[in-house]
This record gives sequence, structure tokens and C-alpha cells, in this order.
Amino acid sequence: MIRSLYFENSVSRETLLKLTKYHEFLIENNKKMSLISKKTEKIAVKRHYEDCAQLIKYIDKTDKTILDVGTGAGLPGIILEIIKNDHDMSFSTHLVDKSPKKGKFLEKANSFLDLDLKIHNCDVNSMNKKDFTTLISRAFKPMRSFLETISNAQLKFKKIIMMKGENFMDEFIEAKKYFEINCDIHQSMTNPGSKLFVIKGVNKL
Ligand SMILES: C[S@@+](CC[C@H](N)C(=O)[O-])C[C@H]1O[C@@H](n2cnc3c(N)ncnc32)[C@H](O)[C@@H]1O
Repeated sequence: MIRSLYFENSVSRETLLKLTKYHEFLIENNKKMSLISKKTEKIAVKRHYEDCAQLIKYIDKTDKTILDVGTGAGLPGIILEIIKNDHDMSFSTHLVDKSPKKGKFLEKANSFLDLDLKIHNCDVNSMNKKDFTTLISRAFKPMRSFLETISNAQLKFKKIIMMKGENFMDEFIEAKKYFEINCDIHQSMTNPGSKLFVIKGVNKL
């Protein structure tokens, strides 16, 4: 069983078992393909799973669909899907990644973990005009190019939750030259230098 005070205090034993199963599946597959950096395997619980789980705070109980853009190994989407019941949430989790290898991994994870993920193994640019309550992203693209991408794809959404690392302010300043952004910025729980941007409105200038 993975060890995490955060999860032990916030989810059921059954959910902790599923997180453990995901962890073992991820580490096994990480031998054959690059899903997470090998250097972070031993600290994956905090670095990846707790980091992703903190997003649940910014998802509303009424949210119907979330889309994880550039999900890779399913981070943060799979973690949120696994823990959502413990937070009385019932959104449906969509994942998009353009890599065929990652697509196969996600399909296998979906059936191995008995989840109900909606997997889009394609370029997000081709998801033209699709409608989601909330878009989420972690380690995908700089803020400006993320906003350009979803604007070109004409994705419809009510909110975006973006996880940003230490150069968040440079990215924000650059993005604001091209977009009017109405957002709240929250401190990351797992990394003192990182922020979570909750964007409630965005318009191209
Ligand atoms: C650095 S990984 C981040 C993965 C994950 N979100 C995480 O936090 O570990 C970025 C992922 O975005 C995917 N990606 C890049 N451009 C994309 C696009 N235009 N459409 C869909 N997926 C894309 C890549 O295949 C890759 O798996």
C-alpha cells in the first residue's frame, strides 16, 4: 500500500488500494516507456499523486465533465477519477493525449483499474467545439500557447484549472499580452514554488 498521510486522511481504504494499484501499474509500464521521470518514481506519491489530488478543491460538486489536456500517464485526470467519490463528486473524466503509446497505456489502465475514463487519443486541436465544464492541465504547455490551442480548437468550457511551476509569473505576464484573463491564483500544497491558476474567464485581445 502506498504511504500518504494526505490520502489516509481524505480517502477510503478502497480508494487507497486503487491508488496503489495505479502506482504499481505506472511503475511497471514506466520500464517500457517514459510516463514519469525515473528520478521521481520513489517520490511519486507526493510529487505526482498528491500534487494532482489537490485540484479536487477547485472542482465544483456540480461539474459534469472535466477534460485533462495533455494527460500523459493520466495526471491529473486518473487521480481525480479515482478519488472523486470520496469527495461526493460525480463528474465524468475525459483525457486527451496525442501520443499513440500513451493512448494504449490509458486504455489498459482504464480496464485494469475498472474506471470509466473517456479517452481521446488525438491532438487536442482536433476536438473542435467540444463542450466540457472544466479544463485541467499539468505540465502541458506554457500558459499563452495553452490558451491559443484551446481558442483555436474552439473548446467550450466554464473554467480552467492550470498547474504552474516556478516560472508561473513570466508565463502569466506573457499570456496577458494576448488574453484578458480573469483568474484566482492559489498556492500549491505540495511545492512552495508552484501555483494553481483557476481561470473563470478568458478573452482574446
Ligand atoms: C509533459 S507531458 C505531461 C503529462 C502529464 N500531464 C503530467 O503531468 O505528467 C505532456 C503530454 O502532452 C501531450 N501532448 C502534447 N501536445 C499535445 C496536443 N496538441 N494534443 C494532445 N496531447 C498533446 C504529450 O503527448 C505528452 O504526453
